[in-house]
Amino acid sequence: RHVLVLAGGLTHEREVSLRSGSRITEALRSEGLEVSLRDADAALLPWIAEHRPDAAVIALHGGRGENGAVQAVLEMTGIPYVGTDSWNCRLAWNKPTAKQLLQRQGLATATWYTLAHDTFRDLGANALVDALAGSLGLPLMVKPINGGSALGSSAVHETADMPSALVGAFAYGDVVLVERFITGTEVSVTVLEGPDGPRALPAVEVVPASGVFDYEARYTAGSTTYHTPARLDEQATGNAADLALAAHRILGLRDISRTDAIVDEHGVAQFLEVAVSPGLTETSMLPMAVGASGLHLGRVYADLIEQAIA
Ligand code: DAL
Repeated sequence: RHVLVLAGGLTHEREVSLRSGSRITEALRSEGLEVSLRDADAALLPWIAEHRPDAAVIALHGGRGENGAVQAVLEMTGIPYVGTDSWNCRLAWNKPTAKQLLQRQGLATATWYTLAHDTFRDLGANALVDALAGSLGLPLMVKPINGGSALGSSAVHETADMPSALVGAFAYGDVVLVERFITGTEVSVTVLEGPDGPRALPAVEVVPASGVFDYEARYTAGSTTYHTPARLDEQATGNAADLALAAHRILGLRDISRTDAIVDEHGVAQFLEVAVSPGLTETSMLPMAVGASGLHLGRVYADLIEQAIA
């Protein structure tokens, strides 16, 4: 098989994507596949037309890599690829939409508001701080509605932190998500689809040394402790797995996905967000879950490639 691995892209997560791309390229080559590692740039379409790879693996993160755009290009050119289709990527990519779709099906997710930049500009930070803190209470999480790796996200523990949190999130887009901060055990659950349907891999628990799972804690070796499986009791473990399976199904995700959640003090798994193109770096949770299941990353993706081609 000749496989195209897409990595890079003009997004804030470019560096992460390049790391994911080299890791998966190496893993697939070790399975004997012929791999072309390429950026998703203007030369992609002519390259596909000339080389006609058998399938593609998208190791792009954020922006056009996860919002359905690159998936639509592959659909248009008829190249099978691993992962969720363009339409469902578009839904999952929008954090408030994903939260709403899951909440409607009875799943737990922190109460939230979305806030447009126009409102921020017109009302000013102080009025908004009072309104948000008044209705949701503190602490809060403020994040861009799109994107990953915690870029632009911050916790607000006091009203004085709110203006900078809003400015930080608006740097990544015109709409931000403000949600109640949930305390508990932070976990990531990978869902893998095989011939017998989707199954949840062991939850990975993240414990950042700084207390905050920000960009640095995600990608600096040694700055976060990971426990796989997560240190949860049987019921909470089941709840986290059920949430990830439900998110995968309700959001129409395909092949492989990762759901991030907080398991609260009652053992309830509260949905945070999904990644349709989860990180594959040395410090990313999906490869840890794959390893803890006794599987090999390259074999898992090689099987998904065959599934996509079939
Ligand atoms: N957005 C990063 C790559 C992740 O979800 O792993």
